[in-house]
Amino acid sequence: MSEANAHRVAVFGAGYVGLVTGACFAELGHDVTIRDVLPGKIDALRRGEVPIYEPGLDELLERNRERLTFTTDVVEAIEDAEFVYVAVGTPPTVSGDADLSAVWMVIDELPQVEHRIVVVMKSTVPVGTGEKVRHRLDARGLGHVGYASNPEFTAEGTAIKDFMEPDRIVIGAFDAADADAVEELHAGIDAPVVRADVASAEMAKLAANAALMTRISFINEIANVCEATGADVVKVAEAIGYDRRIGKSFLRAGVGFGGSCFPKDSLALKQLAANSGYHFQVLSAVIEVNELQKRRVVGKLQELLGPLRGKRIALLGLAFKPNTDDTREAPAFVLAGRLLAEGADVVVWDPIAHADGFHGVEQVATVADAAREADAVVLVTEWPELADVEWEVVAATMRSRVFVDGRNMLEPEAMRAAGFRYSAIGRASNGTV
Ligand SMILES: NC(=O)c1ccc[n+]([C@@H]2O[C@H](COP(=O)([O-])OP(=O)(O)OC[C@H]3O[C@@H](n4cnc5c(N)ncnc54)[C@H](O)[C@@H]3O)[C@@H](O)[C@H]2O)c1
Repeated sequence: MSEANAHRVAVFGAGYVGLVTGACFAELGHDVTIRDVLPGKIDALRRGEVPIYEPGLDELLERNRERLTFTTDVVEAIEDAEFVYVAVGTPPTVSGDADLSAVWMVIDELPQVEHRIVVVMKSTVPVGTGEKVRHRLDARGLGHVGYASNPEFTAEGTAIKDFMEPDRIVIGAFDAADADAVEELHAGIDAPVVRADVASAEMAKLAANAALMTRISFINEIANVCEATGADVVKVAEAIGYDRRIGKSFLRAGVGFGGSCFPKDSLALKQLAANSGYHFQVLSAVIEVNELQKRRVVGKLQELLGPLRGKRIALLGLAFKPNTDDTREAPAFVLAGRLLAEGADVVVWDPIAHADGFHGVEQVATVADAAREADAVVLVTEWPELADVEWEVVAATMRSRVFVDGRNMLEPEAMRAAGFRYSAIGRASNGTV
């Protein structure tokens, strides 16, 4: 990239999104300053330590070290910046609305810059947030500061590839020049650019997540009906996935979705609709189906083992999905909580994520340690290494050889041959022909 095309970008928030955004913009040739309020995070990043697990992120940050600066200081971050990316958390409040306090903190902390900068919203926010930020900037005498919405669609575990090779880039702005500037910042990325008004860009992010969650809850309900009627959801998903109108993605039945985005964004959209006087029925059902789905495993264990009091249950996987250490809203925690409430002893294994702070749960280092003397093993996160476990060896060390495959990851026949009473999600006919 020529010097003329390199821009100065400040990224607020050194979390999953902020670090990936900053590292990828540096990779594209821009000079990036990442600012966080947590001194411990910034100190670690300055030492070359990456506070989260995201495949490839360490290497990307290291490779672009000379174009990356880390700071806790707002003025230092903004000094020469042309763009201020907001990538702070927007967790749910008790009412289910998005908590925008960190966003407002960024806006209110912006110094009285003389030069034109564009504030770009990467955080997922309710529709109407851009309009409110615009008013707040104007009220603070920052009318010359631009504003754009550039929502993030990356998925943890594949975030760098998703950023560098996105399906699309969405840019909403009040002023076409700001949208042009944000688009230019992405030079080098080959993807369709959808230019929109700010409200539509904000809604696009919420709608995309809602569509994906709807597919998950849909296939989970199909799975539940498969169980009741003797069909196999894996075969059903394969059969319908070939239909180009439907497609294959997000048709994997399991123990429900979790993570830092889907649960909070579904609540935020439901609440946004409700605040506007609309009852979003489909989304309400999607959320409810997901809550019930996380708990269905407990029923399966009770069917196979009877009352769970005193039973030792091993949960394989804590992270809400493989290739991340993120356990926010992970189904494993809901399951663990329900099992403890039933009086079971819960032991967990995960190659990366930690059960820190989850009282009553024992975490062990290997799958073998988790399964030893266990009454049941529940596969909660489809970590690739679980495909290579010698399951007959594991089965031989268990008290009762019950296996619930919460992600339909393993072959039913092979697991039965390994000695398990194997149960999966929606596989009444076990997929055999
Ligand atoms: N995690 C994902 O994969 C993903 C994907 C798409 C969109 N999003 C959205 O992106 C946003 C960020 O998500 P995340 O997972 O990266 O969150 P995160 O919690 O991992 O990181 C947020 C960071 O912002 C910092 N912060 C808080 N206030 C700040 C301030 N005033 N200045 C600078 N830093 C501040 C926090 O200390 C934290 O390090 C959320 O709105 C989320 O919904 C996340």
